[in-house]
Amino acid sequence: MGNNLIPLKIAGVGYSLPDTVITNDDLTKLYDTSDEWIYTRTGIKERRVVSGEQNAVDLGFEAAKNALEKANIKPEQIDLIIAASSAPPDLYPAIACHIQARLGISSQVPAFDITAACTGLIYALSIAKAYIASGMYKTILLVATDNNSRLVNWEDRATSILFGDAAGAMVVTASDDGVDDVIAIDIKSDGSIGDLIELSFDGKNCPLVEQYEPKPKGIRMNGKGVYAFVAKILPHYVENLITNAGMKAEDIDYLIPHQANIRIIQAVQERLGYSDDKVVTNIKYYGNTSAASIPLALAESVEKGKVKLGTTAVLCGFGAGMTWGGAIVRLREGIC
Ligand code: UT7
Repeated sequence: MGNNLIPLKIAGVGYSLPDTVITNDDLTKLYDTSDEWIYTRTGIKERRVVSGEQNAVDLGFEAAKNALEKANIKPEQIDLIIAASSAPPDLYPAIACHIQARLGISSQVPAFDITAACTGLIYALSIAKAYIASGMYKTILLVATDNNSRLVNWEDRATSILFGDAAGAMVVTASDDGVDDVIAIDIKSDGSIGDLIELSFDGKNCPLVEQYEPKPKGIRMNGKGVYAFVAKILPHYVENLITNAGMKAEDIDYLIPHQANIRIIQAVQERLGYSDDKVVTNIKYYGNTSAASIPLALAESVEKGKVKLGTTAVLCGFGAGMTWGGAIVRLREGIC
């Protein structure tokens, strides 16, 4: 970073999960599928889903409290809240505003949501980085929370098997020791292939004008198309991110990727030449938790002792938009 830019510290990371577990076997009650088909194609055995009134705000709030506690930062110290979600309970108020209210954070603090699907955390981190670097804000709460179990079409066996609900959160601050925990960060999108994953909004035109043809409800995904696109670009993209940062794959301790399909994760792993102990995977238990996926994988792997702190990691994700992105980060002692 240039001399005048303020470095960023990742101060805390947290997550939350709903209690209800839906196994692959459970899904056989909904449609013709099998544990064997789902597991061999995706690496997923089970996923967590909300039930009753619980939603992405509740999950995000819990993850935020968890991250604030880990960071040893009080809600009143937060001066900006950004939530990343593509499965919010409402279009407005924003999830970030709901969380502001629940945490009792002052009305002087801005709060807004972004939509970058499963790349949401990386997008939010890049926004936070720019705000911190400029000195505009000092202590930012990032919440990545998704509740896709409410938005998938539960009759579509090719899509609904993939998703689970969860939230992750990260507290970032202006670094007081001159060390920047974001060594490199990059975000990308290609709207020209946006139809690979779509979720249309319900509504009607003014009754006085011609109506439009409503699109089918629920998430619609061209799974093969997404797979082909991501398998083609992601391994190369992550490798370039590392090279452009002046580093080599072996300089980085862990790969913490978006958990969408075990075969895509393995393609990135192979490209980087990493052994299994350097790669975080929890897709087996949670499926694809969208924006929550990366912070959940990070926080849980530290909690379980798989990822040691005082290390570096490359985070990478992709999702609807299409969006994709990556970050090379330092994982300080005490963040989880
Ligand atoms: O963050 C969101 C990002 N999204 C993704 O990462 C999705 C990436 N794509 C994928 O992970 C894979 O494309 C899927 C797991 C979604 C699907 O795997 P696939 O190997 O591409 O299967 P397919 O869609 O080509 O389907 C193959 C066959 C079809 O039957 P026929 O036409 O060959 O007779 C499907 O009808 O498998 C059938 N099928 C199923 N069979 C049992 C589709 N879903 C299921 C199912 N159980 N759940």
